Amino acid sequence: MRKYQKADFPRIKKYMEQLYDFTSSLDDLGRMKRQSGYGGVFTNDLLIKVKETGGVIYVATNVENVVGFVACTLIRPSEKGNLASIRPIKDGRVDKLFVEEDYRDQGVGTELMKTAEDFFKKSGCDLARVEVFIPNTNAHRLYGKLSYEDRVVDMVKRL
Ligand SMILES: CC(C)(COP(=O)(O)OP(=O)(O)OC[C@H]1O[C@@H](n2cnc3c(N)ncnc32)[C@H](O)[C@@H]1OP(=O)(O)O)[C@@H](O)C(=O)NCCC(=O)NCCS
Repeated sequence: MRKYQKADFPRIKKYMEQLYDFTSSLDDLGRMKRQSGYGGVFTNDLLIKVKETGGVIYVATNVENVVGFVACTLIRPSEKGNLASIRPIKDGRVDKLFVEEDYRDQGVGTELMKTAEDFFKKSGCDLARVEVFIPNTNAHRLYGKLSYEDRVVDMVKRL
């Protein structure tokens, strides 16, 4: 496990594309379809968001290759947010998590999540958040095993 380096960009871009394609494959509304250019734009956006919030990206490696990554962002106290909470809130968010298919079910995802949580604790967070698409039962089960609880449900209705 190590921090992201510039040379990892092509690999993370590929994983961002695979993550989106995987999520699209679960989308029964059929609204998601990756267009050309997606990987570059969204990977750049992610890097900016991680930098701006003081977050970090960790990559999981086998001997020499990257086999997965987790992108951590920090939700920082804002002036408006402070008007709505008992104290300034600083939460950690697991923004993206991906493990290459051949390396799944070996504990890599768990290790990435634990590394993210250690980073959040060191950054002064007392809560970690992660968003999951309900049809993504594998990821949802993994988060449950790691003691994450469902908190917000985004409901949809076909019109
Ligand atoms: C979700 C995802 C990141 C999980 O990564 P992973 O490396 O397979 O996760 P883990 O191996 O830590 O845990 C998965 C399973 O392996 C088991 N496991 C954990 N350590 C293990 C080990 N050392 N040996 C064998 N199995 C192990 C876990 O118990 C878990 O089992 P489960 O089927 O009961 O849930 C991965 O499946 C993935 O990239 N999916 C596609 C993208 C995605 O869904 N990302 C999350 C978006 S919210």
